[in-house]
Amino acid sequence: MAWFSGLFSGKKRYSQRQMKELVEVPRALPKSTARGGEPRSDTLPRFHGTASDQLHRSRGSALERARFRLRSAFTPSQPVRSARMFAGRMEVLKTLIRSIEDQQLHVILYGDRGIGKTSLLHILAQLAREARYIVRYGSCGEGVEFTEMFRAILKDIPLLYHIDYEPTSVEIEEGKSLADLLPDGPLTVTMVSDILAKLAGTRVLIVLDEFDRAESQAFRRAIAELIKNLSDRSVRVQIVIAGVAANLTELIEHIPSIRRNILGLQVPSMNSTEIDELISNGQEACGLTFEQEAKALIAAAAYGSPYIASLLCQNAGLAAVERGANSVARQDAAQAIHQAVDEIEHRVSSRSLHYIARAYEDGHASNLGMLARAALHSSGRLLPHQSDMVLGEGKGADFVSMIGDKYGLTRPIADDPEGAFQFCEEGVPVYMWMRLAQDKLTAEDYDISALDRMAS
Ligand SMILES: Nc1ncnc2c1ncn2[C@@H]1O[C@H](COP(=O)(O)OP(=O)(O)OP(=O)(O)O)[C@@H](O)[C@H]1O
Ligand SMILES: [Mg+2]
Repeated sequence: MAWFSGLFSGKKRYSQRQMKELVEVPRALPKSTARGGEPRSDTLPRFHGTASDQLHRSRGSALERARFRLRSAFTPSQPVRSARMFAGRMEVLKTLIRSIEDQQLHVILYGDRGIGKTSLLHILAQLAREARYIVRYGSCGEGVEFTEMFRAILKDIPLLYHIDYEPTSVEIEEGKSLADLLPDGPLTVTMVSDILAKLAGTRVLIVLDEFDRAESQAFRRAIAELIKNLSDRSVRVQIVIAGVAANLTELIEHIPSIRRNILGLQVPSMNSTEIDELISNGQEACGLTFEQEAKALIAAAAYGSPYIASLLCQNAGLAAVERGANSVARQDAAQAIHQAVDEIEHRVSSRSLHYIARAYEDGHASNLGMLARAALHSSGRLLPHQSDMVLGEGKGADFVSMIGDKYGLTRPIADDPEGAFQFCEEGVPVYMWMRLAQDKLTAEDYDISALDRMAS
């Protein structure tokens, strides 16, 4: 904004036409440069819509509209925010609501990347707002700090809900918030909980997403202490923490003192009905029809992951539109898997790609793909019995350790009660499973049950 006001407030005066030129993006690229120079604008690829989400008038065919709608029908790189696009998860939501409302517990929601934690939190927040909770959603970054975060949270809670202030008091008329009661300087857990303990006439839900990214031990410990304080004093504030973890201990390793006051809830993989619902919601929103075979292939490759399902549906939908079809066929779903492998590969470190290539050269591609699939289904945990199912009775544990020792791809999960392992890098299991899906599932005569037989 600064440069913008500077532009118009400076001494130089601009004519109306000059002003228009300054603020307006040119409507079209300059037509033709007859000989050499810039390429002709009509040969360049174009955006299909405008930044205000409108389709160009000349591009309004049914297929173009479907392509356009695919953007919001499936959003693999963003969480779902609307109830209309939110599939399944009824049990998780019921448990969340019960724990918050009836048991007044704080909740730790954990699970693998892309399993749907943030989407769930958005819907939970909407439902809580409907029930007139004050909801504050915050995403923790690496450098998150207690003082900064809680000043912002308390700023969103009107002083009206402080038991010591009359609704007609001057401070409330002035629109003050609980943050106005805070002293300057760093905040302590006691300061924050003393103020929150004075809440009346409302309930507050504080959602802390991406908790695993908070590197500061002091921050994690302060949150634990706050949860303990709020629980001991029956304060009308509940905290929901969410983060990537293979087990609950991993997420709260430094804060075991709060275990009695929290519900640890793992977000499970989606079942086939839920994946079906995800596809149906998207299908309705984009206007394309997903043929049965395409749906079956997508569901098999997604293997319970809403992220993979969403990515494949979007890619498959685009592939159908590209070939001028208004229904998504098996071939589009197969193409979507190939494309997903390429896309996901870019997100894996070159170190891991190097060792994966070596392990594949040594003949472990199929076993690694199946292990990756098993890990994706259990929040990133590789349990000894699952490894045995893939590799044969008694062979799983040795193979998983060997993969760790020789290629550095796996490691034991600290303090895991069942002695589980995990892949060392987040994106690796999705990548290895998609590689196997590409090899096996996209073959014309694929048989999903054959894949399951490989694992038994
Ligand atoms: N219930 C759902 N219905 C439809 N799509 C979903 C649902 N849950 C997740 N998705 C889709 O799956 C993808 C991942 O979801 P989300 O971002 O919520 O996961 P996450 O667990 O928060 O991931 P991360 O660990 O990376 O933060 C998104 O594309 C989202 O659109
Ligand atoms: Mg998330």
